[in-house]
Amino acid sequence: MTQKKHKKILITGTAGFIGYHLAESLLKDGYSVVGVDNFTPYYDVRMKEARHAMLQKNKNFHFYKISIAEYAALEKVVKKEKPDVIVNLAAQAGVRFSLKNPWSYADSNYLGTLNVFEVAQKHNIKRVLFASSSSVYGDNKKMPFSETDATDHPMSVYAASKKGNETLAYAYHSLYGIETAGMRFFTVYGRYGRPDLALFKFTKNIIAGKTIDVYNHGKMKRSFTHINDVVRGVRALIEKEKLTYEVYNLGGDEATSLLGFIKMIEKRIGKKAVMNLMPIQAGDVPATIADTTKAKRDLGYQPKVSMKEGIADFVDWFLEHKAWLLKLKEPMQ
Ligand SMILES: NC(=O)c1ccc[n+]([C@@H]2O[C@H](COP(=O)([O-])OP(=O)(O)OC[C@H]3O[C@@H](n4cnc5c(N)ncnc54)[C@H](O)[C@@H]3O)[C@@H](O)[C@H]2O)c1
Repeated sequence: MTQKKHKKILITGTAGFIGYHLAESLLKDGYSVVGVDNFTPYYDVRMKEARHAMLQKNKNFHFYKISIAEYAALEKVVKKEKPDVIVNLAAQAGVRFSLKNPWSYADSNYLGTLNVFEVAQKHNIKRVLFASSSSVYGDNKKMPFSETDATDHPMSVYAASKKGNETLAYAYHSLYGIETAGMRFFTVYGRYGRPDLALFKFTKNIIAGKTIDVYNHGKMKRSFTHINDVVRGVRALIEKEKLTYEVYNLGGDEATSLLGFIKMIEKRIGKKAVMNLMPIQAGDVPATIADTTKAKRDLGYQPKVSMKEGIADFVDWFLEHKAWLLKLKEPMQ
């Protein structure tokens, strides 16, 4: 990155997987980062504390433990810090959890995002980037998913909350001219990744000699996306010269079946998985494959980390940290 147009970035969800990596990368390059997170207990908070402790070492990181669902608390932070850009990554994530606890999606994802846009328009923050998801494509049959495809049939409350975020963003753009982009992430993985997602659960259980649940008999197909590629995509949006209202697929170039994915993990660990083949779960979609032509054209986005490299790096990291990682509580699902 040559010239930095924006210097102070407010990131919501910095104790989370993507927020942590984005903050780390920006701090390394001399940005100031204002972090916000409320450490929800959806998965073991020790993972969030570990990420947070690394960010806290940087003097250009200012943190506020607040919920974005509380407007007054968020406004206080924005008034004090006056960021150039807001990147809203805080959310209740997870498709399966939304079957049991739909309310947390209304609070953190819908109300939280509304608060972010409202505070931006009130305090003259011109640019708001926010996490959407490949799940907005519902069970569309046409693959790969392109930004021009319909997104009117969400299959879960989680997906509906993300679609809702995109429509809210459009309203704020058209009312107040806020420059905004929805980033449709496709199954992101990497170091310090989410303990509720497949790579973490599979690696943990294979190492511990426990059975792994494999949904849709392993026939799920995903554009797994390495965190370093996601961070590059978000950073390109932070510094993009012109932005109106857009949505972008930020996905990997290699789509893999769950069984292919498990084989790569087994190979790196050097141990076979014991699999419990299960039917697909309600709310899940069998395939999410990204067409990233638009991000490549507008953002110069180009996934660089191959699945083989990315999985090897994750497994090596896990083995190095297994003393505490194996002790993490099971996520709330
Ligand atoms: N990881 C993926 O594969 C993926 C895929 C598609 C979309 N996304 C989206 O990307 C964003 C980041 O995901 P992630 O994987 O880093 O998830 P994550 O759960 O690791 O991070 C989210 C963080 O937000 C915080 N948070 C939740 N509600 C909050 C609230 N009300 N106020 C303040 N903080 C709150 C949590 O404590 C957590 O630290 C989310 O919006 C998620 O829906 C992620």
